[in-house]
Amino acid sequence: MRTQVVIIGSGPSGLLLGQMLHLAGIDAVILDRVSKDYILGRVRAGVLEEGMVAMLERAKAATRLHQEGLPHDGFSLAFDGRDHRIDLHHLTGGKRVMVYGQTEVTRDLMEAREAAGCQTIYDATNVQPHDFDGQTPYVTYEKDGVTHRIDCDFIAGCDGFHGSSRKAVPQAAIKEFEKIYPFGWLGILAEVPPVSHELIYANHPRGFALCSMRSTTRSRYYVQCPLDDKVEDWSDDRFWDEIRRRLPAHHAEAMVTGPSFEKSIAPLRSFVTEPMRFGRLFLAGDAAHIVPPTGAKGLNLAASDIFYLSEGLIEFYKDKSTAGIDAYSARALSRVWKAVRFSWWMTTMMHRFPDTGDFGQRIQEAELDYLVGSVAASTALAENYVGLPY
Ligand code: APR
Ligand code: PHB
Repeated sequence: MRTQVVIIGSGPSGLLLGQMLHLAGIDAVILDRVSKDYILGRVRAGVLEEGMVAMLERAKAATRLHQEGLPHDGFSLAFDGRDHRIDLHHLTGGKRVMVYGQTEVTRDLMEAREAAGCQTIYDATNVQPHDFDGQTPYVTYEKDGVTHRIDCDFIAGCDGFHGSSRKAVPQAAIKEFEKIYPFGWLGILAEVPPVSHELIYANHPRGFALCSMRSTTRSRYYVQCPLDDKVEDWSDDRFWDEIRRRLPAHHAEAMVTGPSFEKSIAPLRSFVTEPMRFGRLFLAGDAAHIVPPTGAKGLNLAASDIFYLSEGLIEFYKDKSTAGIDAYSARALSRVWKAVRFSWWMTTMMHRFPDTGDFGQRIQEAELDYLVGSVAASTALAENYVGLPY
């Protein structure tokens, strides 16, 4: 088989790229090692920057997002027993974010792709990129015991942190930067109305807590927990007790509790690969970088990567110019590092570290107090939260 671009990974990065290429008349095949249902069963974050919403509009996959997404003009930083609202809309001159789950983004992009008749091969195992340092790259994979080969012009590695694309690059050609945080997030989904109509990020001596939502009837809540905790250690009752202790009293009292239908623990990591291009192989999204979820930048970075990559590839096919693909890695990384910095900063400010101590706790409190009391500091937070320009 032959196509113009092989996209490895059918997550938000791969699907968004597939859609942008299709709309520009460029053929692509997407390969994923798991099934469509498995992908749609994954629970991830759900705060979209305006740049990402604009990308989904351009991808013609934003109809349901505009019907069901919840526009948010602000969020709350809770500490010292009180809420401090960050007025995103006011501080950024009219910007806002959209609360809409990543699973729904993925579903909408899959439906757009199916409606367009584009090819996705699920349950493809042993997917391997080859010869991307030359002019004639190809990808091999196995399906139902048979090995297949797809020849192409370019390979897009959109296969997430654990994918095979990054691993195919020779060690000497790649530099990786990593920071592991000494705690995890225990997250639950429950069919209960959110405690507040806006998100609450709470700093508390017992640890961080986040109140988010998927809709007006479905809540997504998190508490910081030790890395070695197991989900089985956390009954629903224990979770509800803990999150209420970390919130200001009026929220704790108002919180509606109920059985969780999803509960998982995720480690927190910052990770960046440089560069993001190796000959005719491009890395995008989680394959190239990971941020801790504080600030919800992971999905949004996937969208900005795909903005730069799709522009570069479209320019190559339309104008026979390599300028866009040559600039891809530097353009993407410049924005990636700013989001990595922001996510690290917000994580550091909001969590209790094992060595925080009383001094560290006071420094955090002073930083938070400064942040909510200074228009300059609040504006910097708001500007990053709604998303830096592409
Ligand atoms: N071969 C083929 N497909 C693979 C392989 C492989 N070896 N390894 C992983 N995949 C697939 C996964 O099954 C998954 O569907 O690649 C896809 C990667 O999707 P994501 O992990 O969702 O990564 P990405 O599309 O870059 O999305 C960006 O935003 O909120 C964040 O981390 C969150 O997933 C999120 C991300
Ligand atoms: C979520 O809704 O899952 C979510 C929201 C905001 C974050 C992280 C996760 O910063």
